[in-house]
Amino acid sequence: MARVALVTGGTRGIGAAVSQALQTAGYRVAATYAGNAEAAKAFMSRTGISSYQWDIGDFDACAIGVKSVESSLGPIDVLVNNAGIVRDATLHKMSRTQWDAVIRTNLDGAFNMCRQVIDGMRARRYGRIINISSINGQKGQFGQTNYSAAKAGELGFTRALALETARLGITVNAICPGYIHTEMLDAVPRDVLENSILPQIPVGRLGRPEEIARAVVFLAAEDAGFITGSTMSINGGQYMI
Ligand code: CAA
Repeated sequence: MARVALVTGGTRGIGAAVSQALQTAGYRVAATYAGNAEAAKAFMSRTGISSYQWDIGDFDACAIGVKSVESSLGPIDVLVNNAGIVRDATLHKMSRTQWDAVIRTNLDGAFNMCRQVIDGMRARRYGRIINISSINGQKGQFGQTNYSAAKAGELGFTRALALETARLGITVNAICPGYIHTEMLDAVPRDVLENSILPQIPVGRLGRPEEIARAVVFLAAEDAGFITGSTMSINGGQYMI
């Protein structure tokens, strides 16, 4: 029986590419989305991947959502914590609302989702958790104290959980994408992108969502059992660590 994979924020951007790559690799895939029902509907009819709407920042909604995915598709063996938002502003202009929104979705979301699947993974002695962090959690980014803090937090979370689950057949890894060509980049002013970000990418272009997806499929594989607690940087050479 095919394993079940759940991808948060799985109907758009990097998440959509991840959902599709896992489907192609033979997984039964569920994709969550927060609010863009139109995009989710288009994604579902294009791919046949079932989509579920809930807010990953809401612990109880995650509990209900995961139960509903598991009752339709079966136990979740692969969790990809991909959903994320940006609310960029320099700290001296950042509101408490912008801070809270990013921490809640990007960091609380990883806890809320892992907490729902961890008991099942422990009981079955198998699991693959892949957290999509960011280059900006590794190096920091002007205008992103909230996002960089959440994404760096996700890296600590990944390593701590990897230790807790290492003997149980569960791996926990992080991927740090650099600047990838998705709608999220629409929030970056064009002049900042062209004059300040692109020149810092040695490969000379933005990444493609599929270039992140192939790494997720690699880490999700059954024979990737010795890779845990790792951070994979996929950033066109922009930050080498
Ligand atoms: N480095 C140094 N100085 C910078 C700078 C930078 N990267 N960006 C702006 N500045 C300077 C400006 O030139 C300006 O200087 P002057 O006052 O001397 O003219 C000053 O900082 C502006 O500061 P403000 O506080 O007034 O900032 P602002 O209100 O103009 O907005 C910003 C700044 C919101 C940070 C805007 O530049 C921005 O959106 N930058 C992009 C941030 C970014 O990279 N986000 C990534 C989103 S994609 C993503 O997050 C996905 C992923 O994982 C990679």
